[in-house]
Amino acid sequence: MRQKGARVSGVVPAADAVSVYSLVYVSAVDPTVTRFDLRRILDQSRSFNGDNSITGLLLYRTTTFLQFLEGPEEVIASLFARIEVDDRHEDVTVVRRGAQPRRQFPNWSMALGDVNPRSATPVSVEMPPPDGPAPQTAAEAAFILELLDLFDP
Ligand SMILES: Cc1cc2nc3c(=O)[nH]c(=O)nc-3n(C[C@H](O)[C@H](O)[C@H](O)COP(=O)(O)O)c2cc1C
Repeated sequence: MRQKGARVSGVVPAADAVSVYSLVYVSAVDPTVTRFDLRRILDQSRSFNGDNSITGLLLYRTTTFLQFLEGPEEVIASLFARIEVDDRHEDVTVVRRGAQPRRQFPNWSMALGDVNPRSATPVSVEMPPPDGPAPQTAAEAAFILELLDLFDP
């Protein structure tokens, strides 16, 4: 007799359980970029990323971006090729890339981290809708601090 529940516990592991590719770059914000442009970048990112299994965080501080992207390697590669030539920033420099065991921000099609080093909370994170602003998990908060170190070497 077929045992009830014999197929439990992930016989076919989710792709992300094996590994996920990630890329971190820093860039110089084009001086003409406004808050409105930033909003357009986020809207554009959340729409594409949500449809293509990309998650991550964009840190922003007046003159500098740092973006952490994670997802399937080939999607990241083609997306990054477009990002690199985007004229809303320049001097795009990869600081880290490679496989990682799991996603750092599985629910964020692209969160925005507003960086204010002088504030008690140096990064205020705006999660993608529908969640809006929300506290991060301890693991997410720790990883954001790790990214902040890369932001300002
Ligand atoms: C700092 C920055 C971050 C970006 N991040 C993303 C992103 O995560 N996902 C995305 O689809 N587009 C992102 N873009 C927009 C892309 O550069 C590009 O405009 C978009 O992929 C559309 O490309 P296309 O006009 O060649 O079709 C970002 C742009 C900038 C300036």
